[in-house]
Amino acid sequence: MFNAKAYSAASATSPLVPTTIARRDPTDTDVQIEILFCGICHSDLHQVRNEWSGLMPTVYPCVPGHEIVGRVTKVGKNVKKFKEGDLAAVGCMVDSDGTCPECKAGNEQFCPNFVLTYNFPDKHTGGVTYGGYSDSIVVDEKFVLKVPKNLDLAGAAPLLCAGITTYSPLRHWGVGKGKKVGVVGLGGLGHMAVKFAHALGAHTVVFTGSPSKVEDARRLGADEVVLSKDANAMQAQAGSFDFILDAVAAPHDINAYIQMLARDGNITMVGAPEQPLPVSVFGLLFRRRRFSGSIIGGIAETQEMLDFCGDHNITSDVEVIPIQKVNEAYERLVKSDVKYRFSIDMASLREA
Ligand SMILES: NC(=O)c1ccc[n+]([C@@H]2O[C@H](COP(=O)([O-])OP(=O)(O)OC[C@H]3O[C@@H](n4cnc5c(N)ncnc54)[C@H](OP(=O)(O)O)[C@@H]3O)[C@@H](O)[C@H]2O)c1
Ligand SMILES: [Zn+2]
Ligand SMILES: [Zn+2]
Repeated sequence: MFNAKAYSAASATSPLVPTTIARRDPTDTDVQIEILFCGICHSDLHQVRNEWSGLMPTVYPCVPGHEIVGRVTKVGKNVKKFKEGDLAAVGCMVDSDGTCPECKAGNEQFCPNFVLTYNFPDKHTGGVTYGGYSDSIVVDEKFVLKVPKNLDLAGAAPLLCAGITTYSPLRHWGVGKGKKVGVVGLGGLGHMAVKFAHALGAHTVVFTGSPSKVEDARRLGADEVVLSKDANAMQAQAGSFDFILDAVAAPHDINAYIQMLARDGNITMVGAPEQPLPVSVFGLLFRRRRFSGSIIGGIAETQEMLDFCGDHNITSDVEVIPIQKVNEAYERLVKSDVKYRFSIDMASLREA
């Protein structure tokens, strides 16, 4: 074991504070990574504050962070894909059983035995996994991704969650030319969804509650922007969408978006508010609409997404912060006050 610097929360109401954690020495199949940037996902905040206590109660101390890019500092002797000095990335998962039908199909995100990057039982240490708000991490090479060399690293980090979580359902549901696609909530996930939907050639409409984001939405690739408080503008979109991706982190009126779907249209939730959302069944019955969900994406698909971003020069719009500002960043995240992802420059932790 070796010591790593990190930031952790001691309880649901504690701030994140500097700490030291034990990481395992790399096994024969492990890659050790010096973390350069880690994005701040709203899931980090949900988990730190134990907002998903029903499903995934938080084990404290909690070190969040699953949007990780860095440089390889050490590899185990059986590691094939990476060598010291390479760029490397880690997303939301660090392990799975590798044997179940989902793993065999490349859908590690649906493996009943997957291990998330933080707050999951860690077979190596006997404790829980610790995430990317840290100066280093050790991960099995199967769960380590390659970062295209042309991408800015601070902006590439959020691709590892916000990127794959939006890319995967857009691809699964056939978003592309000739399709009308809605994106609800212009946050970390939402702004990536807009970039991808636009790059895939779809007619892209953003729904936002923030008037200050309207111009940005167009710059990011939206063909139309609707303020969700504008009842007339909302009504004008009724029955017209093939697909809507909902990336809102809080309770909201889902029925307002269901009624915007055309026949056989589908609305997919990626946002994960802590409370259930009341759904009007009649909204679904008429026009045979679908209400569905999606969680991150598989490892091969995550690499495909990173390569797509390399080819199309897509990164996240980030506000780079030192880790010492992480608690302030959380307060701003709750207020939807970030354009559009915080990315922690981990040099601030190493130099502290
Ligand atoms: N399914 C998955 O695999 C997965 C992966 C990652 C994250 N998530 C979840 O996805 C959600 C979004 O994550 P994120 O990191 O993108 O969060 P975020 O950056 O905070 O963005 C959420 C956006 O939702 C909108 N919003 C916030 N509060 C709202 C409210 N009360 N009513 C209506 N809209 C509201 C805001 O957009 P506007 O200002 O445009 O209205 C905000 O920017 C979180 O719940 C997160 O846990 C799920
Ligand atoms: Zn995330
Ligand atoms: Zn499996």
